[in-house]
Amino acid sequence: MKRDFLHVTDFSADEIQATFALAKEVKARLERREDYKPFKDHSMAMIFAKPSARTRISFETGFFRLGGHALYLGPSDISIGKREAVKDIARVVARYNDVIMARLFAHQHVLELAEYASVPVINGLTDYNHPCQIMADMFTILEHRGHLNDLKVAYVGDGNNIVHSWLRLAQRLPFHFVCACPDDYAPDAQTIADARQAGLSEIEISHDPKAAVKNADIVYTDVWASMGQKDEAETRKARFQGFQVNDELMAATGKASLFMHCLPAERGVETTDSVLESKASIIFDEAENRMHAQNAILLKICRKA
Ligand code: CP
Ligand code: NVA
Repeated sequence: MKRDFLHVTDFSADEIQATFALAKEVKARLERREDYKPFKDHSMAMIFAKPSARTRISFETGFFRLGGHALYLGPSDISIGKREAVKDIARVVARYNDVIMARLFAHQHVLELAEYASVPVINGLTDYNHPCQIMADMFTILEHRGHLNDLKVAYVGDGNNIVHSWLRLAQRLPFHFVCACPDDYAPDAQTIADARQAGLSEIEISHDPKAAVKNADIVYTDVWASMGQKDEAETRKARFQGFQVNDELMAATGKASLFMHCLPAERGVETTDSVLESKASIIFDEAENRMHAQNAILLKICRKA
């Protein structure tokens, strides 16, 4: 049976911990420039229906560093679901490649791609979730804190794909997760219910950013209008007043918290230059770790480690 990575919950708690350990090991091997090429003579197709900097660069560079070749297929190359049916392109791309990474709009499309492709499929973001991002985020938190005990993550902003991945991670690892959002921009109700049902993590949905961040180890935010929602940007800006992560909100944690953002950031909107450039900000470690976390995920699902 081939393995896919479409949701962080596709991995067990043990597999998630093992992926962090592998990410740490492979990161060190790459830093030492060891001759480590488990993907020699392998190719990865990367299908992008949306723009990307980090996802494209980290997957392409990471796969290359491990000895493989990554093929970039942009929005106008495949036009997935428009020029050709998802189930057709899945079977065609799988005939040429050992693994597929896809960044798509509809989550249903990545599910269908995985169902029909005979090779592993990795989700590089859909409208619903962003599992590679959250693996990199938790790995970064682990690096900075040295452990994941007594962890409180306060997310402030839109209840979007990033939040859904945090909620799914909370089904596997225990931590306190609070999402502070306007009430009409809350995350998916079923995903919240599943996270609570797992009974492992404390899950709160709040509409009060100041109260939500109190005692948080991590303050996390993301854009108020995601890809595909940019025409709603002005309406959202008005609705999200009071949800900006600024110096005042960072001070409201009452402790030396760290600041995270998956990027790209809209400076001066969901957060400020001052917070992004502060000592608390670990956004570039977070961005770098996309590559190391994904390398580990690829090695796991392709059964190379
Ligand atoms: N964080 C992230 O996925 O960035 P890109 O959209 O640039 O890939
Ligand atoms: N929520 C953002 C994340 C980008 C990495 C989006 O979907 O555009």
